[in-house]
Amino acid sequence: MNIAIINGPNINLLGIREKEIYGTCAYVDLLNKYDEWAKNLGIEIKAFQSNVEGEIVNFIQEAYFDKFDGIVINPAAYTHTSIAILDALKATNIPTIEVHISNVNEREDFRKFSYIKEYCIKSIVGKGIEGYRIALEEMKKYLEETKWVI
Ligand code: DQA
Repeated sequence: MNIAIINGPNINLLGIREKEIYGTCAYVDLLNKYDEWAKNLGIEIKAFQSNVEGEIVNFIQEAYFDKFDGIVINPAAYTHTSIAILDALKATNIPTIEVHISNVNEREDFRKFSYIKEYCIKSIVGKGIEGYRIALEEMKKYLEETKWVI
């Protein structure tokens, strides 16, 4: 089972940016956690981060041709603006879970709307970086139950 973990703009600055909102774990340390969580769950992961919308669209398309089973994505600010990312997810039809580190529902109004939410099987919000672990676990469960992927 192969899951792509995609992060959008400024997630590479975790540990530096607004620590009171996003916590103190640096992005490199998050990458190590992904590996540890994947090992514990017995799944393969590939992590990707970009500050560029089109690169995220390209990566989603590649995930289709590389036959990824699932996507865990935090599009960051593009959550609230990007029809292109929504369209890429719809076009490739890969099961997707949305993650937000902070509780976007309790912040500014412009963060309350997510373009990709309608497509995602779940949205995990406000659980800090643990949200990614929960998303991997949920995705594994979903794929085992619905698609018979092991
Ligand atoms: C975020 C929330 C977004 O509103 C924001 O633009 C981000 C990160 C989160 O993980 O909480 O960059 O997606």
